Amino acid sequence: MAALPHCPLLAVSGLLLCCLSFSLSIPDPQLREALMQLEASMQTGGQMVLTDAEQRLDALLFKMKQEEMKGEDFPPAMHFFRARHLINNSPIFSLLQKMPKGGALHIHDFSMVAVEWLVKNATYRPNCYMCSTDNRSIRFIFSSQWPKALPHCSPWVLLENLRAKMVNTTELDVSIMGNLTLFTYEDPESVYPSQDVVWDRFEQAFLAVWGLVTYAPVFRDYYYEGLTQFYKDNIMYLELRALLPEIYELDGSTHDIRWTLKTYQDVTKQFTAEHPDFFGARVIFTVHRGVNLTRMVEVVKEAIQLQSDLPDIMAGFDLVGREDSGRPLWYFREALSLPVKKGVTLPFFFHAGETDLEGSDVDQNLLDAILFNTTRIGHGFALLRHPVAKSMSRKRGVAVEVCPISNQVLKLVKDLRNHPAAVLMSENHPVVISSDDPAMFGSSGLSHDFYEAFVGFGGTSSHLGSLKELAMNSIRYSSLTPKQKEKALALWQKKWEKFVSENVF
Ligand SMILES: *[C@@H]1O[C@H](CO)[C@@H](O)[C@H](O)[C@H]1NC(C)=O
Ligand SMILES: *[C@@H]1O[C@H](CO)[C@@H](O)[C@H](O)[C@H]1NC(C)=O
Ligand SMILES: *[C@@H]1O[C@H](CO)[C@@H](O)[C@H](O)[C@H]1NC(C)=O
Ligand SMILES: *[C@@H]1O[C@H](CO)[C@@H](O)[C@H](O)[C@H]1NC(C)=O
Ligand SMILES: *[C@@H]1O[C@H](CO)[C@@H](O)[C@H](O)[C@H]1NC(C)=O
Ligand SMILES: *[C@@H]1O[C@H](CO)[C@@H](O)[C@H](O)[C@H]1NC(C)=O
Ligand SMILES: [Zn+2]
Repeated sequence: MAALPHCPLLAVSGLLLCCLSFSLSIPDPQLREALMQLEASMQTGGQMVLTDAEQRLDALLFKMKQEEMKGEDFPPAMHFFRARHLINNSPIFSLLQKMPKGGALHIHDFSMVAVEWLVKNATYRPNCYMCSTDNRSIRFIFSSQWPKALPHCSPWVLLENLRAKMVNTTELDVSIMGNLTLFTYEDPESVYPSQDVVWDRFEQAFLAVWGLVTYAPVFRDYYYEGLTQFYKDNIMYLELRALLPEIYELDGSTHDIRWTLKTYQDVTKQFTAEHPDFFGARVIFTVHRGVNLTRMVEVVKEAIQLQSDLPDIMAGFDLVGREDSGRPLWYFREALSLPVKKGVTLPFFFHAGETDLEGSDVDQNLLDAILFNTTRIGHGFALLRHPVAKSMSRKRGVAVEVCPISNQVLKLVKDLRNHPAAVLMSENHPVVISSDDPAMFGSSGLSHDFYEAFVGFGGTSSHLGSLKELAMNSIRYSSLTPKQKEKALALWQKKWEKFVSENVF
């Protein structure tokens, strides 16, 4: 409010009304200016004081954005699959790639690595078998012996043998890739005409990836490669939603979920040792919301145990899967109140409000997430329709993890200028930007989603201060301790200053 030197009248709203009613024709330009400044100051980054160098970079960005908005094909108004090549050629995008973006707080375990890697690396390893399901998806398994047939799947083929017989394996590799991601060069509107179709393909793609990434040697390398890809996108910290499956070896033996969590910890340690300017990663244990209450009680107990045994790597707990067809949080209330009942800590990071089914049981998830003291809200797409949940989220600093491309691909919004986070950003609601399942959507790291946020729903009013605030939010609203946040922010600040100085002229 300090930014209003021109209009003392604003200080007293009664006087303001009175002043407005006196102006008979043209409203007072000074008042107009003051109101515009007031709005600008309320948005994400609106209070950020920029250095000289930052102001110069901001001016440059503003020019770039105006240029970008002139074009006929405005990327945020298009489906991301059709817009991707335009975005990749945008000078704003290349700046966003270089920008230190802080942490990625909403990423799923088996969609963090571009699918090219899975095909070119994982499926080219020895002992990799593939079968084709009745409805044109595929499944994989690594095995030292010929594996037992899967129901609804063709007989297994050993990929080494299959490829050895081919002159050119490109077509096979492209068709495998097409099964592991939703991304397509065909018209996305006709390939995915409805939410049901796109969610079905989404779940089939996860099942296709499953046999590859739950094989112990691939599991380790996949996670390391994921950290590498995020690091290259100038992300310094990660909170990974992870199912913690039992991981298998070539002889069919399996490791328990504690081993899986421990492996995340070991690989993170190794990666951080090799990249000292990477801050680290933590895991949010997730379970599919299709399970029944009995199973949920068991899983919550496991989560409590892991949280107490491995508190450095374990950040908390969440449910995953399509909200519209899964069970609502309230159905699991007995399981989810176990930690409080036992007097132990298990922070929650609930997906909630990833829906457009207003007024349904599922739509109630937002308020329930807050009642269960969630630390952040995954998506919160429906938050604007819940004024009470929204105001509680703001008051308690429960940040909303906004994943623009995910919401568009899964058909909650078509034109990203109309994403509800536009409203959240206009009033500096606690938000962070994330990419949910980058490999499924064909995006990389966080930069594509930052582009959609900054150029799409950020509009011309978002500026370098907004980007700075979003990056800082990702540390501020992370699960790190206050001391760790301080350290991470200092590390980020150094990267930020370097970024600014290298990009102004
Ligand atoms: C897969 O990646 C790992 C780790 O980078 C590497 O050691 C291995 O040689 C690669 N394998 C193939 C088949 O490309
Ligand atoms: C594919 O088959 C599975 C079960 O065999 C079924 O659950 C799923 O809905 C099917 N998907 C399509 C696209 O038909
Ligand atoms: C293999 O086939 C693809 C198209 O299916 C083609 O683009 C590529 O040039 C071929 N590679 C070789 C080495 O012939
Ligand atoms: C998935 O694999 C099947 C079997 O190889 C193939 O027929 C199909 O075209 C692939 N799907 C995509 C989307 O590439
Ligand atoms: C709950 O699900 C488990 C499998 O996860 C199953 O074994 C059990 O029978 C189910 N219980 C009820 C009451 O449906
Ligand atoms: C949520 O937090 C409040 C206030 O600290 C506490 O009284 C309540 O038991 C918590 N509920 C759950 C389910 O965590
Ligand atoms: Zn998610």
